[in-house]
Amino acid sequence: MAETILELTDVQAHYGRIQALKGITLNLEKGEIVSIIGANGAGKSTTLMTICGIIKASAGTVRYKGQVINDMSPDKLPGLGLCQVPEGRRIFPRLTVEENLDMGAFHRKDKAEIKRDVEMVFDLFPILRQRRHQAGGSMSGGEQQMLAMARALMTRPEVLLLDEPSLGLAPIIVAHLFEIIKDINKEKGVSILLVEQNANIALNTANRGYVLETGHVVMQDEAQTLLNNPDIRKAYLGE
Ligand SMILES: Nc1ncnc2c1ncn2[C@@H]1O[C@H](COP(=O)(O)OP(=O)(O)O)[C@@H](O)[C@H]1O
Ligand SMILES: [Mg+2]
Repeated sequence: MAETILELTDVQAHYGRIQALKGITLNLEKGEIVSIIGANGAGKSTTLMTICGIIKASAGTVRYKGQVINDMSPDKLPGLGLCQVPEGRRIFPRLTVEENLDMGAFHRKDKAEIKRDVEMVFDLFPILRQRRHQAGGSMSGGEQQMLAMARALMTRPEVLLLDEPSLGLAPIIVAHLFEIIKDINKEKGVSILLVEQNANIALNTANRGYVLETGHVVMQDEAQTLLNNPDIRKAYLGE
């Protein structure tokens, strides 16, 4: 039977007097890839930031592995296996690839294991092995996204929150990146909540999807069902 690893119940969030989330209910089962799609400004990033405590929910609950984490400090969560790759990557541009990866392991003390995980992420992203001594900021957008994801994997996540990994990348790079996202899910057993404006690639990667409009979930279904829905195709797939 499926096991819920992350669960939002009627979550609201505000920026001052602006209400960005108006009652979001969603769940991620262990082993799933679930995608949140929606137009710019729908509340996708706010949802992820509320999950990881950067924004405090003004109502509702966020549960991770059954525990309410609304009041958890954001820097505690990677140590518990919940890690976000934020929109715009936010790697450390002056640090080398290796140094960026070390930052991902900041809460860990197991030196030998950390070294092994660095090799593991280099196997997953061979280009990063070639660039290991290069400053993160000197790399291409696709390589920086890979570095951001690799750094998150150094926390040994059970749940990865990915915010617009495709943003600003060429289609061929996006396709490659999403193959690796599937590998991370399948081979490493990481459950993934994937936020994307690129609904096509997101729904082709995910098991299920949620459609967000102005802070509300307006539709949720199997990803394939959403992909075949004429309204979704018209609104989000450019038809
Ligand atoms: N720092 C902020 N201050 C005020 N309003 C914000 C801020 N960030 C986002 N918003 C507003 O909250 C809503 C949701 O934004 P966001 O979660 O970033 O949407 P998405 O990621 O789907 O594009 C939008 O109306 C946006 O203008
Ligand atoms: Mg966003």
